[in-house]
Amino acid sequence: MIKGFIFDLDGVIVDTAKYHYLAWKKLANELGFQFNEEQNEAFKGVSRKRCLEILLDLGGVKATQEQFDHWMIEKNEDYLRYIEKMDVSEILPDVPKILDFLKANHIPMALGSASKNAIPILRKVGLLSYFKVVVDGNNVTKAKPDPEVFLLAAKDIGVDPTDCVVFEDALAGIQAANSAGMTSIGIGDTTILTDAQYNFNNFTEISTDFIKQLTTI
Ligand code: G1P
Ligand code: MG
Repeated sequence: MIKGFIFDLDGVIVDTAKYHYLAWKKLANELGFQFNEEQNEAFKGVSRKRCLEILLDLGGVKATQEQFDHWMIEKNEDYLRYIEKMDVSEILPDVPKILDFLKANHIPMALGSASKNAIPILRKVGLLSYFKVVVDGNNVTKAKPDPEVFLLAAKDIGVDPTDCVVFEDALAGIQAANSAGMTSIGIGDTTILTDAQYNFNNFTEISTDFIKQLTTI
């Protein structure tokens, strides 16, 4: 029986996955190569450092430590420019419906994200107070598909991993949830998130009855 809910951030709660993509694409173009949405799938749910390593491999670019550090900062500055003006309009459809329902039923919620920008984003869109716990890229050492981020989130809300549900838009995130022994729910392209136990295109397809069935509510 599900007793705790864990949400990824980028591409699940807010429409920021597109901004990460645009910032990585800009860097790739500056370095002289193309970067497309298909390649970007491997970047979802993955830490900034790991993303840059993958990007440089794709472009066959060798970097000194100094260049690497510089590009990490540059990508993040570009990303921060995109999200600067973010407001509630960037919350994905029907996400508040599910958050409000869980809150009203006193079900603990945690955020489990690879991003180091999670807290300011949640603050900007006014959703920070829903989460009992925020585990993000600042708290973990191993990136998804390693289950560390979700196991830490479960521990912090005091719920057994097997009693947790994870909402994820990244294949690496679904794999992390599965290896944590949690129920995985894919949000987005079902042809990519094939390892998920449940699939929905977005939260408009998730009813409160579905949530009730998973829990004891
Ligand atoms: C990092 C990566 C980004 C990735 C995101 C996943 O975010 O840079 O490409 O999609 O994790 O949530 P950042 O810490 O840069 O906000
Ligand atoms: Mg995501």
